[in-house]
Amino acid sequence: MSNPRPLAERLKTAKGRSTSQQNWLRRQLNDPYVGKAKDAGYRSRAAFKLIEIDAKVRLFRPGMKIVDLGAAPGGWTQVAIERKAGTVVALDILEMDQLPGAVVLQADFLNPSASEKVKAALNGPADLILTDMAPSTTGHRETDHLRIIALVEAAFEFACEVLKPGGAFVGKLRQGGEEQKLMKAVQARFTKLQRIKPPSSRSESAEFYFAATGFKG
Ligand SMILES: C[S@@+](CC[C@H](N)C(=O)[O-])C[C@H]1O[C@@H](n2cnc3c(N)ncnc32)[C@H](O)[C@@H]1O
Repeated sequence: MSNPRPLAERLKTAKGRSTSQQNWLRRQLNDPYVGKAKDAGYRSRAAFKLIEIDAKVRLFRPGMKIVDLGAAPGGWTQVAIERKAGTVVALDILEMDQLPGAVVLQADFLNPSASEKVKAALNGPADLILTDMAPSTTGHRETDHLRIIALVEAAFEFACEVLKPGGAFVGKLRQGGEEQKLMKAVQARFTKLQRIKPPSSRSESAEFYFAATGFKG
């Protein structure tokens, strides 16, 4: 796809940035999903990942109670609201702008008090737990892998506590070895587990998504 911005402008914008910042900027400038997200009014390109996962797994039904962990800036929350969720509780460690139709909470999900806050806002069992939580990358592959595993483990524990039988748990992981043990544990609690690499997830990224459906209770 052609880039609408001239090369000179792109190089000027990159001035004074570190190599990893420049790489990020280059990816953003050349990424068709960034423009698509802007045109569609989504706060992030990540919205398309959930849309693509949903096209495959059919996650949403009107009136659902949904928890969105690692929600900022809010693309997935917007998609959940669009799909006519009854309740959406969105949590992030960072501040997130409010979205009509969602309860937005700011907390570190690894802090035990965070899940209590979510449960209070949810006010009853959930139909769908989403986690797109990812710590900022350190560049050290193994460390990044272990940190995301810890977040998904915490989300899984929470999902087992709050999901209705038949509910679903969808999230992001990074390849690295440890994910297989965790996916096995998830599989044991659900009737079906699918591993998904949505087209909008960059092929060079070690991330992948999973959708566990049919919570056994
Ligand atoms: C890839 S972004 C999520 C994008 C979001 N799904 C969207 O559609 O806009 C990952 C998010 O995980 C959050 N996160 C990382 N560690 C967290 C933690 N311990 N507790 C809560 N959120 C966390 C980050 O702050 C970041 O906003």
